Amino acid sequence: MTTSNSMSGAKHLLCPLCLAKQVQQPLLTLSEDLRSLACEQKHSFDIAKQGYVNLLPVQQKKSQHPGDSKEMVLARKQFLGLGYYQPLVDALVSSTQQHLSSITSPVILDAGCGEGYYTDNLHRALAESNDELTAYGFDIAKPAVLEAAKRNRSICFFVSTIKAVPIAPHSCDVIISIFSPINTEQFQHMLKPGGKLIVLCAGKNHLHQLKSLLYTSTADYDDDKFLAPLDSHFTLSERSSIQHTMNLTSQHDIMSLLAMTPHFWRASPEAKQQLETINQLLVDIDVQRMIFTPKTLEQTEHE
Ligand SMILES: C[S@@+](CC[C@H](N)C(=O)[O-])C[C@H]1O[C@@H](n2cnc3c(N)ncnc32)[C@H](O)[C@@H]1O
Ligand SMILES: [Zn+2]
Repeated sequence: MTTSNSMSGAKHLLCPLCLAKQVQQPLLTLSEDLRSLACEQKHSFDIAKQGYVNLLPVQQKKSQHPGDSKEMVLARKQFLGLGYYQPLVDALVSSTQQHLSSITSPVILDAGCGEGYYTDNLHRALAESNDELTAYGFDIAKPAVLEAAKRNRSICFFVSTIKAVPIAPHSCDVIISIFSPINTEQFQHMLKPGGKLIVLCAGKNHLHQLKSLLYTSTADYDDDKFLAPLDSHFTLSERSSIQHTMNLTSQHDIMSLLAMTPHFWRASPEAKQQLETINQLLVDIDVQRMIFTPKTLEQTEHE
């Protein structure tokens, strides 16, 4: 799907207002002037000039600015733009390609897409060999979705919460979730039978050298944290770790990495000042890649 209007390929988006009233499959369609999406009940959602659409009703907002702040979004954009996380992109592309190889007109969704680094890179890699690809990405943070939409107008980006994603049931071939919150029921509901959920999350030693420079004692990341919550609706079909050592060769790159992690907010000012005096640092990427297949409704009910 390559088009100048990001929403002309969006055939699976639903009206969040009708969904909240239990209306079945309230599909959104593009208006004639291409400026908004609307349902049969005439609920209308403007397409922003950057190309995204806000499908998060005020009632579903727990705060005025939910999700990552603009500063966090821009910090992530800056660090990811340096290319150090390319091994994660490569792993994501190969896992997704493997699953989509036999599927015509595939549909992919990036849940908690942030500023769209992975959505964009994955889309570019897949679209080369598949012009029937439809790609969606959503995040609860509007500043993140705005940045994502600016990157790639062939992807349908929208603002939504993971608690109620306005996507037609069983429409996605692959859902990716990268360092983001998960929602087991929603993921199963959105995936086609036999579809895949690809999760990347921090492994035990992820960024451990950075952490040990900031804190006197550090705990390992819990790389099993998604297994129990997903177990009711998914079967783990593959698991591997992506390991790579980044050679950060300037104070700028080291501080950029810090700025996009939660440690920027947690670490003491003294520890951060100390880090600023370093010009080179080797830091390990240790990321778990897990691929899940949704259980059938019968399997889910019998557990
Ligand atoms: C660590 S960031 C990862 C972003 C992106 N996947 C990446 O790796 O660059 C986690 C993202 O989850 C989003 N998020 C948090 N709670 C959410 C929710 N309830 N629904 C949707 N997105 C949420 C945040 O706004 C943030 O962009
Ligand atoms: Zn509606």
